[in-house]
Amino acid sequence: MGKRVIFTGGSGKAGRHVIPELLKKGHEVLNLDLEPLNQPNVYTLKTDLTQPGQVFNALCGQFKLSSPNPPGTPPTPHAVIHFAGMARNMLCTDDETFRINTLSAYNVIDAACKLGVKKIILASTGSVYGVAFASGDIDYESFPIDEEIDVNPMDTYAISKMCIERIARGFARRFDVDIYCLRIGNVIEPHEYKDDLFHSYVNEPQKWKNHSWSYTDARDLGQICNLGLEKSGLGFQVFNATNDSITSKNSTMKFLKEQCPNTPFTREMGEFEAPMSNVKVKEVLGFKEEHHWENYFPVVGK
Ligand SMILES: NC(=O)c1ccc[n+]([C@@H]2O[C@H](COP(=O)([O-])OP(=O)(O)OC[C@H]3O[C@@H](n4cnc5c(N)ncnc54)[C@H](O)[C@@H]3O)[C@@H](O)[C@H]2O)c1
Repeated sequence: MGKRVIFTGGSGKAGRHVIPELLKKGHEVLNLDLEPLNQPNVYTLKTDLTQPGQVFNALCGQFKLSSPNPPGTPPTPHAVIHFAGMARNMLCTDDETFRINTLSAYNVIDAACKLGVKKIILASTGSVYGVAFASGDIDYESFPIDEEIDVNPMDTYAISKMCIERIARGFARRFDVDIYCLRIGNVIEPHEYKDDLFHSYVNEPQKWKNHSWSYTDARDLGQICNLGLEKSGLGFQVFNATNDSITSKNSTMKFLKEQCPNTPFTREMGEFEAPMSNVKVKEVLGFKEEHHWENYFPVVGK
């Protein structure tokens, strides 16, 4: 049955593709964002998530403008999916990145839990593994890059996401709710497989340690959110939300051994397995990739 889902940050790069996947499953979606979203059947309520009053208000309100409004109090949403925030460093000053990301997430988690929402899904990032915005070229702790690694990033964006995961863990324990944190890889929109970035992923893979030679198709991210809505009772969880394969034609272990000779392996990896492993989200939530990059990457001469 379709659920009432509040989505934050739906007007952004990832949300624009995730929301249509939620609608396909019959969910009713309200988007909370500072910017509009051009998506039929989804109302965007302008909300500054750093303001707790606005967040509480939005989570208690109507899902769309209607005249007259339905009688009675709007039902509690089944779930909140929180994607809003600063999606990297240097969009604003570090203190603002930290303030906006941590405060928005705190406000959303706090309001959702206190209003009785039982499922919260949060956008975290593969940057927490510490390499993307490190000061200097550092190695990953081990391969595969999985959720077992004790993460210790040094940049503000990734630290803000670690704080969000920590807030989630505490609130899941206190309110006995499900909070699933998705460590998302670099998000690829459908048109981006033809762009310079993916071309470079494939042809100059040595340049892309910072993206862990892994990616997240924006529509497959929608599938992961849908699966997270369906699966209940897991409490606090962290999932790498990446696609199945390495972003080049290289065999994963051979390539990683060449690029990072000092980084240990904690298990054998599949021939083209993504270095940022999605084994957990496949095993626990049942994710099945639909948008493999080689289906879209332009082959020269064709
Ligand atoms: N894009 C990626 O490659 C990537 C990778 C890993 C993780 N993520 C995470 O996924 C999420 C979505 O990323 P994205 O690329 O769509 O980002 P985006 O910048 O395109 O979208 C973020 C949205 O949040 C909104 N927003 C910002 N501050 C707000 C506030 N105070 N109140 C309400 N809305 C606010 C913005 O208006 C925007 O629409 C982010 O949390 C990001 O950290 C993204």
